[in-house]
Amino acid sequence: MSWLSSSSIGRKVVMSVTGTCLVLFLLFHASMNIVAIFDSINGTEGYEAICEFLGANWYALVGTVGLGFLVCVHIVYAFILNAQNYRARGQERYAIPGRQKEVEWASLNMLVLGIIVVLGLGLHLFNFWAKMQLPEILGYYPESGTELIEYTFSQWYFVVAYIIWLAALWFHLTHGIWSAMHTFGWNNNIWMKRWKCIANIASTIIILMFACVVLYFFGSSCACCA
Ligand code: HEM
Repeated sequence: MSWLSSSSIGRKVVMSVTGTCLVLFLLFHASMNIVAIFDSINGTEGYEAICEFLGANWYALVGTVGLGFLVCVHIVYAFILNAQNYRARGQERYAIPGRQKEVEWASLNMLVLGIIVVLGLGLHLFNFWAKMQLPEILGYYPESGTELIEYTFSQWYFVVAYIIWLAALWFHLTHGIWSAMHTFGWNNNIWMKRWKCIANIASTIIILMFACVVLYFFGSSCACCA
């Protein structure tokens, strides 16, 4: 198993497997958040039920620890891969051919976008997780998920920050999903084009679901839109 850390392809496999798991989490998380919009329209309390289910129960805590582990491995390997690319170039930095330059540009872009995604995640965990699951772990009463969403997205600066965060995440996902499929071996000419299209559609659906929640609650809090 040491090839997973010692070889370049092994490190790419680790990035791709952890990235795929994180995409599946995002799909679940985005679908779950859409329930808050249905609640707001229908006067139901489905979102509160989901938040209670995902509180500080053992299975939710196992999920949180697993998620934290995936994020950490994904980030550490991203830095290792970039450093390795940088070192491999060495003195040849200005003599590399066009295709290679493109690959390096995409990889550097992914690192910069990834850093914006992590900064946004820090803000997001502070806004939600630190007021919901964390107090529950510490034995305090958690805040209501619905009320936190209503409060957060009634503030224009959070709306702007989340939209920038989601835009960075969209770019990161489109390239990331495509790149993972490349690593998994689906890399002939026909499938690379198809994966580009599938990656664009999947990333757009996920990001649109998150953005709908942000904009819906901003709209419903805004006096001029009410
Ligand atoms: C409209 C946008 C979003 C809303 C309303 C939202 C809502 C929430 C809520 C309510 C929680 C707390 C759950 C709990 O502690 O019980 C949470 C946690 C979390 N969110 Fe989001 N989220 C959004 C976007 C995102 C995005 C884009 C990401 C990833 C890039 C993300 C990643 C996470 C993570 C990693 C946690 C911690 C999960 C855990 O404790 O296991 N969220 N979010």
